[in-house]
Amino acid sequence: MAHESTYKPSTGFERWLDARLPIPRLMYDQFGVFPMPRNVNYLWTFGAILMFLLATQIATGIVLAMHYQPTVDGAFNSIEKIMRDVNWGWLLRYAHAVGASMFFFAAFVHMFRGLYYGSYKAPREILWMLGVLILVLMIATAFMGYSLVWGQMSFWAVTVITNLFTSLDTLIPGLGTMLVEWIWGGFAVGEPTLNRLFALHYLFPFLIAGVVILHVWALHIPGSNNPTGVDIKTKSDTLPFHPYFTIKDGFAVLLFCILFGAFLFYAPNYLGHSDNYIPADPLVTPAHIVPEWYFLPFYAILRVIPDKLMGVLALFGAIVVLFLVPWLDTSRIRSVSYRPIFKWFFWLFVICCIALGYFGSQAPEGWKLLWGRICTIYYFAFFLIIMPVVGLIEKPRRLPGSITESVLGKPSASAVGGAA
Ligand code: HEM
Repeated sequence: MAHESTYKPSTGFERWLDARLPIPRLMYDQFGVFPMPRNVNYLWTFGAILMFLLATQIATGIVLAMHYQPTVDGAFNSIEKIMRDVNWGWLLRYAHAVGASMFFFAAFVHMFRGLYYGSYKAPREILWMLGVLILVLMIATAFMGYSLVWGQMSFWAVTVITNLFTSLDTLIPGLGTMLVEWIWGGFAVGEPTLNRLFALHYLFPFLIAGVVILHVWALHIPGSNNPTGVDIKTKSDTLPFHPYFTIKDGFAVLLFCILFGAFLFYAPNYLGHSDNYIPADPLVTPAHIVPEWYFLPFYAILRVIPDKLMGVLALFGAIVVLFLVPWLDTSRIRSVSYRPIFKWFFWLFVICCIALGYFGSQAPEGWKLLWGRICTIYYFAFFLIIMPVVGLIEKPRRLPGSITESVLGKPSASAVGGAA
């Protein structure tokens, strides 16, 4: 929440710095006394978990890059060398690979939280759109990172996905081919392609970090939403960020590390595909080319559509529609907890996304193709029809008078404690 600064520099040095580069003031106002709704649940710790994961990915990635070789002949072997010969290399490599999965898992939870509690609604539209932009950058980064292993799945994933651009040939003959050859840096996926994928995979996480700063800035103007979706009205609705939420976020990050550690130390390859332990071979296509689990719902949408260009448009449309969510939802209130009809559609949407993930991992034929198509239609109908229409016709349940009332069951006037 954009609030008056209460920072008082206490030493001479702090006063000197405050007049020049007031970072301590910024930290104090934004992460010290910043008023947080007192009723936020553990789903609000995922932003902090995501920050932790971003830092982990950057730290492990930089050290991996010190040993990685971005050449067609050296890439696969350099990764095996990291795994076997580099001190703690296995830990770095697995932490980075499993970390990518954890990152997407946390981002999906974070997004569904936002969808459920209407955190994208005014005045948080830009915050939400910056989040979707982060998602797009994450998708690009993970895709490029996976290609660097230069195993069979890496190579064929790059081949299949870059080839999607050739669908533009049906619009303007030659355009798609020209574009894809420009991306490849040649007439097939090869060394120039690998080199640019490496360069961009190194760059993008820093772009993500930059957009995350804007994301948190955009969050700190209106302040956090909360499970009721009711705005902060009095000081008793809030608690200061420190120590209450620094402790809670820190605890959540530790809990999350148990999940992370379980995969990292007990099943580091569980979420990957064994074919990527075969060096890339442009002459042998794997029986099933499947992306990493976090791309499967989008991959399903791409494949259930028989026309290549339409499939590509639907794939991009599935993300673009997320940018429009703040304007597609016509409901007066934010939280789905108080929306008796929309709640059902919301949970159906969650099931639909999980089902699309399953269909993305299967060959698109028979009943799976049919249900993949039904889920794809529901995916778009949820945003383009259900959100606008249900918001207009639904009668929401009565909202609590205030955040404090939702916590204590009584109006805020009688509330004591907290930051009051
Ligand atoms: C690198 C990835 C990301 C990081 C580090 C990040 C960070 C954060 C942080 C620290 C918060 C405040 C704490 C919280 O509410 O959990 C937050 C809030 C939020 N984020 Fe993200 N975020 C990321 C990705 C996304 C994505 C992909 C979306 C949606 C498309 C998104 C949408 C939101 C929204 C709507 C809020 C406000 C929540 C509320 O106040 O109810 N974020 N984010």
